[in-house]
Parts: sequence; C-alpha cells; structure tokens
Amino acid sequence: MKVTVNTFANAKINGEKLTMLTAYDYTTATLIDKAGVESILVGDSLGNVVLGYDDTTAVTMEDMIHHSRAVAKGAKNALVVVDMPFMSYQTSVYDAVVNAGRLIKEGRAGAVKLEGGIEVAEAIKKITDAGIPVMAHLGLTPQSVNAFGGYKVQGKDELSARKLINDAIAVQKAGAFSVVLECVPAELAKLVTEILDIPTIGIGAGADCDGQVLVFADMLGMFSDYTPKFAKHFGEIGKAMTNAFSDYVNETKSGAFPALEHTYKIDSAVINTLKEEFCND
Ligand code: KIV
Repeated sequence: MKVTVNTFANAKINGEKLTMLTAYDYTTATLIDKAGVESILVGDSLGNVVLGYDDTTAVTMEDMIHHSRAVAKGAKNALVVVDMPFMSYQTSVYDAVVNAGRLIKEGRAGAVKLEGGIEVAEAIKKITDAGIPVMAHLGLTPQSVNAFGGYKVQGKDELSARKLINDAIAVQKAGAFSVVLECVPAELAKLVTEILDIPTIGIGAGADCDGQVLVFADMLGMFSDYTPKFAKHFGEIGKAMTNAFSDYVNETKSGAFPALEHTYKIDSAVINTLKEEFCND
C-alpha cells in the first residue's frame, strides 16, 4: 500500500510507530522499500555519506534532485521525503516555494523536509498552501552547525527546551504533517510528542517519539567518519563489504576468479579457425 501523509496522521491517532530510513540511490531505496519501511528520506546527509563533505552546507538543489529521482524509482510504497538543502528556503518564502516545487516536479518527491521553527513557519505555510507536504526538523539542525558551534544535544536548559516546544507548535500550526526531533533529551521529545497532534520522528530523541529515522549507512555500520551515540548498528555491512572487496582482490590476483561458471562459451571450431588464421607464424 502506498504510504501517504494520511498514513502518518493515522499512525499518530492509532499509536502505531512509524519507520523512516535515509537512502540516496535506487538500489538502496528498493531494498528499504521491500523491508516495509514507511518512509525514505533523501537527506542532505548525502553530503557526508555520499559526497564525503564535512557538513551538509555545500549540498545543492541539483544534488538533491539527482538523488531524489533515483530513490523515487526504487520506492514503490514508501513515502519519499526530500531535504531542502541549505539556502534553498532561508533566503525568501518565494525561493522556498519554487525550490520545494522543483523537488516534487524534477526530483519526484512525495514531500519535502526543511530545518527550523518559527523563522521558517511562513515558508512551511506557503509550501503547504501550494499542495506540497512539509516535514519540519527541530533540535540539532545540521545546516546550522556553524551557528551551533558543533553538533550538540539541543534543548537541555529551560530556555532552549521552551523554544523547542514553541517551534514545534509553530511548525504544526503552519501546516507541517510531521516533525523530526534530532538530538534532544528523551523526556523533552516525549513532552513535545504529547503536545503535538502531528507525529514526531526521532533521531537521538528517545523511544517515545511517534516514529524513528536513521541514516542507512550508520545503521548498517558502513559509515565510520563519526558514530553518533544513537546510531545503533543493525548490521555490520561495512565490514562485510571490505571483506568481499579484499576477497575479490585476492582471488583476482591468484587467478581463482573468474572461474568457469563466470565465463561464456564459443564453438571450438570457430576458435580453431581463428587460431589458424591469426596465430600461425
Ligand atoms: O539529512 C538527514 O539524513 C536528516 C536525518 C538525520 C533526519 O536530516
């Protein structure tokens, strides 16, 4: 069954947990979709995971559209949510609507995600008014890493916790269908989840959110530049890949690969004729 924003709304009403994973390509999206994950996020974490950047601020609209198209092809049922990259919506509400539209038209996204609270509420309203579902993102918002002075847990004191609650209420009021809570204390995420009518999707925000999201390369043990505390390894695919790559090197160098079963046949009469013509001195 195709997952839509209604699936998200119903899950909140029925107390069913939602699942979301990132993907940046067709093959991974196909595998995630087959596993029954409700939503695939084409996160701007592709800057770190795929492009090897230090942070997400260099990711462009063209990057997001390119990867979104590939993921959309693989996601038969999952709702594809695509990140609006840094400076594609902060500059003006007009830019926000135009760029959200590009992710739908060119990237084939089902919804967009953007970071921020009260300061982006007007953009969220205008994008949703244009018929584009918006997922909000609060707490540790990686596009603001330079303003935060690093990747830190957010909402630990009363002032910042109060701001997070007010931001969550503002994005819901603006029309967001869901909100990601990243790196916030579990008790605060639980409180926000109780206050809001829209589902909260946690990452480093405890078990009481309405759903969870993880970066696929983190949860498979494939990305080792840094390992956040919340990134449980559900597999050790990184190690399995390195082992397979080195088996390939060893077998190729030793001549064990390719074996007979990996090769194609030709009639020996044809080969003999060719040998006579080309190999006789
Ligand atoms: O870009 C991303 O992958 C994200 C998740 C960490 C929520 O925004």
